[in-house]
Amino acid sequence: MSAFLITPLIASLLLIAASGDPFYQNYYVTWGGDRAQVLQNGDLLTLSLDSFSGSGFQSSNEYLFAKIDMQMKLVPRNSAGTLSSQGQSHDEIDFEFLGNLSGDPYILHTNVFCQGQGNREQQFYLWFDPTADFHNYTILWNPHFILFLVDGIPIREFKNLESRGIPFPKTQGMRVYSSLWDADDWATRGGLVKTDWTQAPFIASYKGFRANGCVWLNANSNCNNNNDDVNTWLGQQQLDYASQGQMKWVQNNYMIYNYCSDYKRFPQGFPPECYVTTNN
Ligand SMILES: *[C@@H]1O[C@H](CO)[C@@H](O)[C@H](O)[C@H]1NC(C)=O
Ligand SMILES: *[C@@H]1O[C@H](CO)[C@@H](O)[C@H](O)[C@H]1NC(C)=O
Repeated sequence: MSAFLITPLIASLLLIAASGDPFYQNYYVTWGGDRAQVLQNGDLLTLSLDSFSGSGFQSSNEYLFAKIDMQMKLVPRNSAGTLSSQGQSHDEIDFEFLGNLSGDPYILHTNVFCQGQGNREQQFYLWFDPTADFHNYTILWNPHFILFLVDGIPIREFKNLESRGIPFPKTQGMRVYSSLWDADDWATRGGLVKTDWTQAPFIASYKGFRANGCVWLNANSNCNNNNDDVNTWLGQQQLDYASQGQMKWVQNNYMIYNYCSDYKRFPQGFPPECYVTTNN
C-alpha cells in the first residue's frame, strides 16, 4: 500500500511512526547503472562516482508540496571536486554538498528556484563531520514556506511572500532527485582543487527514504482538503520560537554565504525578499 494515497494528517503521524520506507517504494535509479547499489532490502543505497560517471536516483512521484527526509553519509576523506545533491525540480529546491580535501569542511549549498529563476544561494558549514555518520536532511515545502533542516534544526526559511509580489513555487509538481557527480570546475574552493581520481570510486550512502507529500498527477493533487491543520507539515505556517532561535544560531555561526548580503553581486539592490527580515 502506498503511503501517499492517504490524507496529510495520517501522513504526518506516519512520519513519527515509520522509520522509513524501502527505497523501491518511492524511488528508482535513473543513471550510473550499477554505480547505484540498493542494499539491505532497500533500506540503504550507495551512489558512486568514478572517472567515467556519477550516479543518481529520483522519486517515482511528482509532488506539489512535500516533506522529504533523507539520511545521508557523504563521501569520506578526500572528496574534493565531488558534488552530492539532493533536491526537487522543476521549480527547484536544492541541497548540494560540495566536497573537500581530507579534513577540510564540506560546504552545504542551498538554493530556491522559482519560475526558472534561482540566484538565491545560501551556504553553510556543518557543525559535525557529515562523512562520519548518517545525518538527516529535510526539505519541507508547503503553501506557507520552504524550510531546510539538518538533523531537525532549521537552517533556512523561504517564506511565501506572494502577497508582496515575490514568486513562490506552488504551481508545478516537483520530483525528488539525488545524485553524486563531478563538479571540480567549481565545487571545491571555487574550482581550485580538482578531483583526485586515484581516490575513486567516491561513495555516498543514503537511507531513511521517507517521502510525505501531496502526489501531483495529471495536474491534480491528492491533498486538496485538510491542509490547514497547523500541527501537520502541510499546514504549519511558521517556525515556533525555539526553532527560530536554533535557526539564528546556525545562521550566526555557520552561514558562510548569503545572497542577501552580497553587495558586489547586486549593486542595484537586493532581490525584494531580502528586505523582509525573515528570509535572511
Ligand atoms: C535521524 O532521524 C532518525 C529517524 O527519525 C533518527 O532515528 C536519528 O536519530 C536521526 N539522526 C540524527 C543524527 O539526528
Ligand atoms: C574547503 O576547505 C577550504 C579551506 O579550509 C575552505 O576555504 C572551503 O570553504 C572548503 N570547502 C569547499 C567546498 O571548498
